[in-house]
Amino acid sequence: KEISHQSKRGQIPTRKSAFAFDIDGVLKAGEHVLPQARRALAMLEGKNAKNAKIPYIFITNGGGPSETERAKKLSKEFELDIKPDQVIQAHTVLQSLTKRFADLPVLMIGGPDRPPGASRKVMEDYGFNNVYTSHDIHAWQQSSWPFSRPSKDQESSIRKGDFSKVHFAAVLVFHDSRDWGRDLQYICDVLRSPDGRIGVVGDDTHEQPFLAFSHGDLIWGNDFTAPRFGQGAFQEAVKAVYEVTSGRPLEAVTFGKPQRLTYEYADALLRERMSLKDENTQADGEMSVWMIGDNPASDIAGANGFGWKSALVRTGVYRDQDGPPKHKPTILVDDVEEAVRKAIEEDW
Ligand code: G3P
Ligand code: MG
Repeated sequence: KEISHQSKRGQIPTRKSAFAFDIDGVLKAGEHVLPQARRALAMLEGKNAKNAKIPYIFITNGGGPSETERAKKLSKEFELDIKPDQVIQAHTVLQSLTKRFADLPVLMIGGPDRPPGASRKVMEDYGFNNVYTSHDIHAWQQSSWPFSRPSKDQESSIRKGDFSKVHFAAVLVFHDSRDWGRDLQYICDVLRSPDGRIGVVGDDTHEQPFLAFSHGDLIWGNDFTAPRFGQGAFQEAVKAVYEVTSGRPLEAVTFGKPQRLTYEYADALLRERMSLKDENTQADGEMSVWMIGDNPASDIAGANGFGWKSALVRTGVYRDQDGPPKHKPTILVDDVEEAVRKAIEEDW
């Protein structure tokens, strides 16, 4: 099907390859850059049989910094010039919510917040103009979560408020919670309040305030010997505690991979890159997008659902002893270098 239509000159057109890379477990193991990753990206930068530049982007369910900061970090790690519009993080697509919540108070959960205040700044730069964090609430009244304390650093960046008067319109989980117990408490407080105020519990008959998670990965791969809990595991915890305390089902929206919205956003970025002159040295033809991932439930499920091809690597979450992956990739390979080599061979 993919090579059925002929160009005007009667030649069979070559498909234009494009790549979307997952980061954790594919290009990196924790903070460590995999050597195969440098070689894989070099192939896309022109070290291939046609000396062609092949467009690529990164889609990670990770996050924390702005896309600009992340692009700078990736550029340094891979010694390449990575642009911010090549980077989609889990929270990138939260921007679509600014139409609804631009000026309303939102409770932002999670994020590395390094330096203190940085995570809130990312949300503000997206266009959320009224963002409070868990640290703000904790600093307001420590008895709201007596089992931990905001660090001195966090206290330096808090936004003061009288939270008995702030009516939260939404809870937005930006990135992994750094204090599950505290954040779970505050999320349930807001969702169970009849008017979005912390510390005011109703009878759970009101409309539940809006809740969004930036992604739903149960597990993810770093440099530890076994996969680690991700934001999806936190979501399960919130769901369990909310449902047992409120007696009703949790309503939540999830972004990130494998959600279609994230792939639509990515597809648009790739098409834009495809139209850039300097990357357009391949022959005319249709776009063949490969997602290279380590997590079948996230990377591969999303790619399959969106009609992209996929390569599942063995350097992250997926291990052979897990048995055949639930979401079947186009190819199963050892690492990202093999993935790119085989994908290019298949397209050309
Ligand atoms: O928290 C999960 C996240 O770190 C996974 O990142 O790059 O594998 O989508 P990635
Ligand atoms: Mg991964």
